[in-house]
Amino acid sequence: MRRIFLCLAITGFTLALPLSAQSIQFDQARKLWLLTTAHSSYAMGVAPSGQLQHLYWGPALWRIADVPAASPRADVSSFDPHEMLENEEYAGWGGPRYYEPALKITRADGNRDLVLHYVSGNTDGNKLRVVLKDIRDEIEVTLSYTVYRETDMIERSAAIRNRTKQQITIESAQSATWYMPPGIGYRLSYLSGRWAAETQLNREPIHEGMKVIESRLGHTGHNFNPWFAIDDGSAEETHGRVWFGALAWSGNWRFSIEQTPYRQVRVTGGLNTFDFAYPLRPGEILQTPEFYGGFTDSGFGGASRCLHDLERTHIAPHGLSARLRPVLYNSWEATEFNVDQQGQETLADKAAKLGVELFVMDDGWFGERNTDKAGLGDWFVNKKKFPNGLDPLIEHINKLGMDFGLWVEPEMVNPDSQLYRAHPDWVMNFPGRPRSELRNQLILNLARDDVKEYIFSVLDRLTTEHKIRYLKWDMNRTFSEPGWPEEKPEAQRELWVRYVLNLYDIIDRLRAKHPNLEIESCSGGGGRVDLGILRRVDEFWISDNTEAYDRLKIQEGFSEAYAAKFMSAWVTDVPNTNGRTTSLKYRFLVAMQGALGIGANLNKWLTEDTELATKMVTLDKRIRNTVQNGDLYRLLSPRTNDVTANQYVAKGGKEAVLFAFRHAQQYKTGVAPIRLEGLDPRATYRLESIDRALLEKNSVLSGAYLMGNGISLDLIDDYDGTAVLLHRVE
Ligand code: DGJ
Repeated sequence: MRRIFLCLAITGFTLALPLSAQSIQFDQARKLWLLTTAHSSYAMGVAPSGQLQHLYWGPALWRIADVPAASPRADVSSFDPHEMLENEEYAGWGGPRYYEPALKITRADGNRDLVLHYVSGNTDGNKLRVVLKDIRDEIEVTLSYTVYRETDMIERSAAIRNRTKQQITIESAQSATWYMPPGIGYRLSYLSGRWAAETQLNREPIHEGMKVIESRLGHTGHNFNPWFAIDDGSAEETHGRVWFGALAWSGNWRFSIEQTPYRQVRVTGGLNTFDFAYPLRPGEILQTPEFYGGFTDSGFGGASRCLHDLERTHIAPHGLSARLRPVLYNSWEATEFNVDQQGQETLADKAAKLGVELFVMDDGWFGERNTDKAGLGDWFVNKKKFPNGLDPLIEHINKLGMDFGLWVEPEMVNPDSQLYRAHPDWVMNFPGRPRSELRNQLILNLARDDVKEYIFSVLDRLTTEHKIRYLKWDMNRTFSEPGWPEEKPEAQRELWVRYVLNLYDIIDRLRAKHPNLEIESCSGGGGRVDLGILRRVDEFWISDNTEAYDRLKIQEGFSEAYAAKFMSAWVTDVPNTNGRTTSLKYRFLVAMQGALGIGANLNKWLTEDTELATKMVTLDKRIRNTVQNGDLYRLLSPRTNDVTANQYVAKGGKEAVLFAFRHAQQYKTGVAPIRLEGLDPRATYRLESIDRALLEKNSVLSGAYLMGNGISLDLIDDYDGTAVLLHRVE
């Protein structure tokens, strides 16, 4: 590797260091920081006024001297004050500032002006902390930066501290503002959707004005996902400049994407300002969620791979030492609420024969839970269904060589439950107003510490008393009437934040006490998919829609931000969700692009189904390391092609796998050769087709040919699918 040496002035010393060793450089004379990852740099500096200005975000720089010092701009007119032209790194709402502020407060006396200036900075390895303070009052903000050099990502957050003697109320607490280089012609990519149609990818031009994507639902939500990508207008999957980010928060969140009249393009994100009012008493701190950002010139594919690496390395529990996701069976679509010992054992016997490693019993095992009308909250086993409790079933499953997983929905209660009858005050509510039920359920006010402790004790008891390896943690409705009558009126809106913090606290304590426990985040499908919950869970359930063709698009959107390892994907029976019927092979191939699960009614399967499924599970175990831990290349998108193709390349490049799907053929036209990516052009690869679809005559081909010409596949039927494994030969 070429090593560049440069002189750095750090706290008075002058050091000669190779650039590759230094994630954070500080030019003390000009009060300027340069944060550098493997392929990107980010710079900010302090202007003579004390204002902290953003200076650069783009390809990696090796020379801090190139970055101009922060400097004041001149007013353009009395309508265009200089504050609007300066890229303030973390702007308070005060003075003549009209763009989206990062922090907005009201003091006890009604004074709302807040202007933040630099106080100090401190670097510790790959972490930087910069303290800002109001120009008059002891209202302080500590900005935190962590540089993840290998994964090309920067983590940002803000801690707001009230050092005054008066209470203040925070009306907006954002994690960060990100600036693109000044310009026009940018495009925004974001994920939107609804229940059973989550993570649909949108790409649209950014014009002057503001676009908001957000959740006001209490949880992350099905409607938007806290991820964005902005490109310079010309990026594609394989190349082009993309700035992107994702927020680690599972409650109300908000991104505002602005283009100002001064050609600034800025994204401000953090806690949603909707119905937000957070009192900060003297001495208190509000810590915002982490907002991760990255830059790549390797297109949208490159952006996704950075996030995937970050998630696997630094976000998800156990990091790179986490085990590969096992093949899972879940009983929900087979039985719905009709679970009982005999029925589950029969399914388990069949699942074990297929090679399943984790058997999950879904809803219906507890209280009077025979429909969705009753029982939520009563987390004790239903003795009519399981006369001797859960243990005989768990032992049966363990004897078959599988781990046992259990469905819970701890945040919820049905009015028809023992828990609600005992504690009607535990749900969020506005006294004297209706309590809106959705799916016949109400939400426990997890912001209350007594409710939090109760839920922790219930889950702790379950996981202590039974050999439960895995919890499917469900959450099946949005918030409504988010009242907290026991609190003082001015503190009641803390609920939006405290609910999430208490949720995190329960899971953190549970995992600390039961280190082997794994958790799936489910919220009626993909309603709680974000980096905040990913810190605490091993998989996401990304949609209740398990129809394979619909799923291709949902999975594509998910993959923009999240790695395949965290994408639980089931093979289910047909017709499903939208009435479409596809072959079992097609359904397996779609699901094998994530963490494979089976959610079908195995009692209805024919011998040939079982035989095929056994082969596919065996195949999945061969390729899952490549899929779950490898680099994803989205070769052909279901949004724009009649063929979808995704390729995964194992780290180190020894193995790769291509999945290809034909949606609908017309006129018997064949599929054009599919060009691969991410291979070594100088290496050769042995091709292994899982069926007869591979048309190549040569079974060994070079990376140069595979990427230059591509491979031809015989996908001629509607909803046809195949996979090709590549093994590096030399
Ligand atoms: C919604 C989930 O998304 C489903 O997979 C299933 O667990 C049901 N809830 C059970 O009520």
